[in-house]
Amino acid sequence: MEIKIFDSASMASKFTAELLANTIKEKPDSVLGVATGRTMDAVYHHLTDLYKKEPFDCKKCKAFALDEYVGLEKNSENSYKSYLDFHLFHPLKFQEQNTFVPNVQNEDLDQAAMNYEQEIQSAGGVNLQILGIGLNGHIGLNEPGSAHDSKTRVVALSQSTRESNSSLFKNEKVPLTAMSMGVGTILQAKKIVLLATGKSKSEIIQRLVNGDVNTMLPASALKLHKDALLVLDNDSASLL
Ligand code: GLP
Repeated sequence: MEIKIFDSASMASKFTAELLANTIKEKPDSVLGVATGRTMDAVYHHLTDLYKKEPFDCKKCKAFALDEYVGLEKNSENSYKSYLDFHLFHPLKFQEQNTFVPNVQNEDLDQAAMNYEQEIQSAGGVNLQILGIGLNGHIGLNEPGSAHDSKTRVVALSQSTRESNSSLFKNEKVPLTAMSMGVGTILQAKKIVLLATGKSKSEIIQRLVNGDVNTMLPASALKLHKDALLVLDNDSASLL
């Protein structure tokens, strides 16, 4: 796992945004795996700036969300679909049929999870997967204990994840479950970039970088991947 440390969160996010923009420019029919969360706000903000300055065509690009909450109101503003529409898909004019989010409205969630895996395969697999990291080391919503070969499935959210994500919620409670790509699904991507910024992530980054591969720290599975990059700022890297 390669590591790049930047002087500021803004520089680390800009670098990640440039990676995304260059991937789409070089291969307009790229398949992206995309993350949500506070860390990603800055990435999509920079990416939108790049797009506005010098538009690049995203019409053939496909994007797969890492995860989606189960049990929110249909079209909820708290859903990851709403997040991605607002921060990424609409500003960059992705075609609606090329954007994918786990179908948590399906009555058969196991079937919906299998369909999601199938859709990723049919698209030819993910070229570039962008990840954030949870305070407990989760990637997507693969909480500690998730198997390295896990696939898209319904997962139970830990109390700490629900608390941490609650500040992003309006008028609804954070659900107890979500559908997430598995760790194994994520590892199938050709290239993986995990971005972590801010002091609050320094402890988990220290455990990730200095510790062994361990299912209790799901992000450590990236050490098994041949093209995984960890992008940090000085704050998240402060305990290294
Ligand atoms: C959520 C998302 C993850 C994200 C994590 C960290 O749980 N499902 O994909 O990496 O939060 O979020 P933040 O960037 O807000 O710290």
